[in-house]
This record gives sequence, C-alpha cells and structure tokens, in this order.
Amino acid sequence: MKRIAIFASGSGSNYENIIQHILDDKITTIEVVSVYTDNHEAFVIERARKYNTPVNVFEYATFDNKIMYEKALIKQLEEEKIEWIVLAGYMRLIGETLLEAYEGRIINIHPSLLPSFPGKNAASQALQYGVKYTGATVHFVDSGMDTGKIIDQMICPVDDNDTDETLQQRIHTLEYELYPRVINNIIK
Ligand code: GRF
Repeated sequence: MKRIAIFASGSGSNYENIIQHILDDKITTIEVVSVYTDNHEAFVIERARKYNTPVNVFEYATFDNKIMYEKALIKQLEEEKIEWIVLAGYMRLIGETLLEAYEGRIINIHPSLLPSFPGKNAASQALQYGVKYTGATVHFVDSGMDTGKIIDQMICPVDDNDTDETLQQRIHTLEYELYPRVINNIIK
C-alpha cells in the first residue's frame, strides 16, 4: 500500500470519489494519509472531516515565496511519509522544489483532452471552441501548466445545447471512473 496525499483547492469531489472507491475495495493499492489544501475555505475540508482524513492547510500568502511554501509542504509530507501526491483540483503550479522531491510521483487530472484546453475553465474553453468531443486526462506533473506526460484519457461528446455546467458534469462523471483506474494502474 502506497501512502498518498491528495492536494485540492476546491470542492473535492474527486477526493471523495477516491475515498469511496477505497471503501468499496475498488482501489486497493493506496492509503489516503491526508489532504493538503491552500484554501482554508475549500469544501474539500468538510468532505475530509466526514471520512476522518487529516487536513493540512498551507495558505500560500503566509509564506515569503514559492520555495519557502514548498519546503514547508515537503517537511510535512516527509513527516507523514507520503510516497505519492495526487492532485485533484489543486489550483497552483508545482514548483521545482516540490518537483525535485517527488519527481515522477505526482499525478494530476484535467477536464479536457490535453494538450487541448490546458489551464482554467477547460469545459468552457471547449464549448467556445466548438469541439464535438472533449474529455478528461490524467498526466504526470512537470513544471508546465498541464503539460506532463499523459497517462490515460476518456472521451465524451459535447452536445449542441450544453452549458458550462452540463458539460462540466459530464466530464466529472468521466473523472470518477478515470482517476481510480489510473491510480490502480500507476501507484503500486
Ligand atoms: C476537476 O474537474 C479536475 O479535473 C480539475 O479540477 C476539478 C476538481 O473538481 N483539475 P473537484 O474539486 O474534485 O470536484
């Protein structure tokens, strides 16, 4: 069993989905040791409370710079003996300090078929562009914005009458299948 931390800045539905899969014995290779968030108001904190997952809040603004911020993260990650980091809606680029410490052991999920539509609001970018299919991607994390090596993807159609919300919901449904699958395949 690998000891993992989930990094999230927002709602945390992917966190909860991963926990549910563990409880249902559908993910068997990992133990979620803790959640890390950079936002003390993130709903993921409520979700983590429900499942008794410890939460580490590291507000970026309380550090002098990114290096100091990431050094503090690494200290806590090492104390918790974290082996892999799973990003699930973590809204910060990972810097060189953390990358060096966890090289090849950080993965991210993104709500588009990368390399299309990196960055924020991927579903609305896809709608605006008028693509007929989009999806979700899990990739290794490097120093770029959603640029690391792709591990797996899933596809869904874009409907003519989709709104940002309906498309996001469809992509989320893919994510709930894709991320557990990748975790089982990659983290062991
Ligand atoms: C997901 O769409 C994920 O792909 C992106 O951020 C969103 C997080 O959703 N990186 P949630 O917080 O897990 O509900």
